[in-house]
Amino acid sequence: MTAARAGAKSRRPEAGVWPFVRGSTRVVGIIGDPVEHSLSPLMHNAAFAALGLDWVYVPFPVRAGALPAAVRGLAALGVVGANVTVPHKEAVGRYVDELSPLAKRVGAVNTIVCRSGRLYGDNTDVYGVRQALRRVKLRGATAVVVGAGGAARAVLVALEALGVRRVLLVNRTLERARVLRRKFSSGGFHVEVRDFSALVEARYLKEVRLVVNTTSLGLHGEPFPAVAFELTPRECVAFDLIYGRWTDFLRRARAADRKTIDGSEMLLHQGAEAFRLWTGRRAPLEVMRSALAGVETAR
Ligand code: ATR
Repeated sequence: MTAARAGAKSRRPEAGVWPFVRGSTRVVGIIGDPVEHSLSPLMHNAAFAALGLDWVYVPFPVRAGALPAAVRGLAALGVVGANVTVPHKEAVGRYVDELSPLAKRVGAVNTIVCRSGRLYGDNTDVYGVRQALRRVKLRGATAVVVGAGGAARAVLVALEALGVRRVLLVNRTLERARVLRRKFSSGGFHVEVRDFSALVEARYLKEVRLVVNTTSLGLHGEPFPAVAFELTPRECVAFDLIYGRWTDFLRRARAADRKTIDGSEMLLHQGAEAFRLWTGRRAPLEVMRSALAGVETAR
């Protein structure tokens, strides 16, 4: 008995040790284009290894035209689930069998769960944003959200859930922001559309508790338009969805001595929630956080 258990233990999958994929290995992955730079495989494979789960997380590079076939193929191949990333988060909802209420509300799916051959589309980005902002007091607050794409939609849903009362939605293309205002404004949650000039005006900034960058500006080192963080209250927080680098947006906040949060906590927590949906197990957060930080603590 003891020997058998020891034997089984010695065959456990180990991070980075090849070959650990066997006939029994359960597969999850990420659908996107590109997916080469995704940190999700690293984070999830570290978590599987730490818990001794016979699972593997793989990249699935999928072009837009191949999306319907790829999604249906998940069920056909017995894949347990998948994350969905740029540029498919909005389109993929059309190809799953069922959407969670949150995925419907956001209008985007970032996690697919395959159950008995049926595909269930969910959104864990909202949870990721909520967790990243868990230490910021936002009840009744005013926030600025820059950007009006898919990421902004998840942020708006999260901010409403966190009790934010008013959002100034700043976007280059105002019509796109107006679409979001129509969709997300409700009785206790007011969305107002502004252009970039609002980011340097005291009358807008003086009550702002949070400024969020949901645009891709900074992903490749691009400069961010001026934000007069010095006109915000001292406790104002800057949150950039981009992770793993000091973006121009965050640098501006730091220069004004405002607290900053980058996108790695959101990445971590959206992943942890997807992990829970697939495996039914609580994700090993510290293992995943260390994997993202590039520290090998999986075993
Ligand atoms: P995602 O789903 O990741 O949010 P998206 O839907 O392509 O991606 O949205 C990208 C966001 O970044 C948009 O708000 C976009 O502004 P527009 O709606 O005006 O296109 C913003 N964005 C991207 N490049 C930008 C740039 N150079 N200047 C200003 N905003 C930019």
